[in-house]
Amino acid sequence: MSRSHSIAVIAGDGIGPEVVSVALACAERAAARHDVRLTWRELDWGCERYARSGTFMPDDGLDQLASADAILLGAVGWPSVPDHLSLWGLLIPIRRAFDQYVNLRPARLLPGVVSPLRGVDELDLVIVRENVEGEYSQVGGVVEENARATTALQQSVFTRRGIERVTRYAAKLAAERSGRLTSATKSNGLVHSMPFWDQVVAEVCAQEDVAVEAVHVDALAARLVTAPGSCDVVVGSNLFGDILSDLASAIAGSLGVAPSANLNPERDHPSMFEPIHGSAPDIAGKGVANPVATLWAASMMLAHLGEAEAADDLYSAFTGVMADGCLTADLGGSATTSEFGAEVVRRLS
Ligand code: NAI
Ligand code: MG
Repeated sequence: MSRSHSIAVIAGDGIGPEVVSVALACAERAAARHDVRLTWRELDWGCERYARSGTFMPDDGLDQLASADAILLGAVGWPSVPDHLSLWGLLIPIRRAFDQYVNLRPARLLPGVVSPLRGVDELDLVIVRENVEGEYSQVGGVVEENARATTALQQSVFTRRGIERVTRYAAKLAAERSGRLTSATKSNGLVHSMPFWDQVVAEVCAQEDVAVEAVHVDALAARLVTAPGSCDVVVGSNLFGDILSDLASAIAGSLGVAPSANLNPERDHPSMFEPIHGSAPDIAGKGVANPVATLWAASMMLAHLGEAEAADDLYSAFTGVMADGCLTADLGGSATTSEFGAEVVRRLS
């Protein structure tokens, strides 16, 4: 009997729908090869809906997603809408309501890609970003508005439970890989949150019997550029993990190749898979966006759903197309989004 999975799809804004349509066609093919049926529940949520109705998703949006086996997202955000509104009106509520506390962001130098960094011909690291607390908090405010004394306060929130569970995930991942774990800190400047982060990370790593190296995030950013091979698994807070993963993806050639999984490891709720890039208004509508990040995210989704063979097929297909020299403009090639997608489909047929 064939297996089937129901996926909620939020293509979103800008290049989101362009890369998502490629990912759906290719994932469907990869799944079909293993007698797996994927059903898509496409949701027109995002900035256009906001312009029309004042909200990014319906009032019962989270309830609608709760029954899905997974969520596939393109990108949300558009210049006519302040970015903090779109982020906090759609993405962050989903990550938090479904307790997707691990944001897994692999960065790999894929076949056919030349790193912008001279001498880097191998890169394979994973950033494990804390995804539901930390610096991205609504605690704070702006006081004395319209006066010269106006002051903005932005409070970080770090809990022992939050640090423990993301570190445990990262430590187990490190144990499966190289055994090396790097923790991004800033315990010299941030005197309350980061010494506490360091202490909890050290405790969890001792329990998990994994060696951890704590590195200040500024020095770590420099090290990722000068010696990217010196890190394997990096665990970081919400903000540090966000910044380091964009840096890592740039070293891997382009934002257009970097995927991200928002995981609820206990599987009490659906997890969400997306490219790490945004809606790229500068190239939206031109049909040139790189769909690789979303294809890779879809492959991670298949693996999470227990479809390892379909996930591997999809990964092999798009990396094979790249190895053959079919690349989009961000990687120096001339393939359009749909030409690249058609090549992947052909390989899966
Ligand atoms: P961005 O990732 O959209 O674009 C940054 C640069 O990378 C641009 O030059 C863009 O053309 C290029 N780029 C991104 N993805 C690409 C792809 N697949 N192929 C080729 N080139 C690609 O980041 P930006 O400009 O900071 O944000 C644009 C909008 O997206 C904003 O509204 C922002 O809030 C939103 N955003 C949404 C995210 C999400 O939905 N998870 C994540 C990041 C940004
Ligand atoms: Mg980012």
